[in-house]
Amino acid sequence: MKITVIGAGHVGATAAYRIAEQQLAKKVVLLDIVEGIPQGKALDMYESGPIGLFDTKVQGTNNYSDTADSDIVLITAGLARKPGMSREDLLMKNATIVKEVTDQVMAHSSNPFIIMVSNPLDIMTHVGYVRSKLPKEKVIGMAGVLDSARFRSFIAEELNVSMQDINAFVLGGHGDSMVPVVKYTSVAGIPLTELMAQEKIDQLVERTRKGGAEIVNYLKNGSAYYAPAASAVEMIDTIVNDRKRILPCSVLLEGQYNINNIFIGAPVKLGKEGVEQILEINLDEPELEALQKSAAIVEENCNALSTLLA
Ligand code: LAC
Repeated sequence: MKITVIGAGHVGATAAYRIAEQQLAKKVVLLDIVEGIPQGKALDMYESGPIGLFDTKVQGTNNYSDTADSDIVLITAGLARKPGMSREDLLMKNATIVKEVTDQVMAHSSNPFIIMVSNPLDIMTHVGYVRSKLPKEKVIGMAGVLDSARFRSFIAEELNVSMQDINAFVLGGHGDSMVPVVKYTSVAGIPLTELMAQEKIDQLVERTRKGGAEIVNYLKNGSAYYAPAASAVEMIDTIVNDRKRILPCSVLLEGQYNINNIFIGAPVKLGKEGVEQILEINLDEPELEALQKSAAIVEENCNALSTLLA
């Protein structure tokens, strides 16, 4: 197994380190356009091997030929938000970057999985899919795992219970229109609505929607990276180990939830084939409407890129 991480910024480097530590691949390649940064970070990670007890080779590079024959490529390249910016503000710049990155990746690997992390997430996943011409099962966006982790962490904190027992699903686009599905949120199987007042649930839902911005406002000069990297690596672990976990991921919907030809967050069974199944769960009317509204926003942004992608 060879895994490439594109972008040696905070998300990329943190993800590469987790992949190495968890020994999810024999080799991790960390690529960035900035000279020295991927090489320095990769060497630093590799040197922690005797302490973390891993044998994963970690190579930093500026050269796509080093990514040849990757099994999985995690794309984190692009600009991050500054305070006051929405993820969509990054649209044109990051679409240009992700397009070029995908072309370069595909010039050296014939059939990799692409896990997209760059923002605006669902739209960048669409860009990766269109440019790579890979089967839809192999191009997957990371968003729902992160948004659900945020929701779960807020619930754990509020109820003062272990994170372990909390199950939650956040669907839809990775933006203000995301759809935390309270109906399928439970603590040790107990519906959240039995444990928390509706007003509190509403507050946590709103905090989840703004979870990325909350971090951006603290950091000022960048966006979150520990939870995003952990989320992306959880998806990689699920594919590498064929775990068949059900995770919310941004995938190409073709009629499910009455959404057509749009990448958006839905519950997915992930395994060695990538997206092995898209689950169509029963949503209440307001949630279904919210999901479709979220999809319409993604579609509008994708349409704005038609010239770039032609
Ligand atoms: C976030 C960014 C990474 O949600 O989209 O923190």
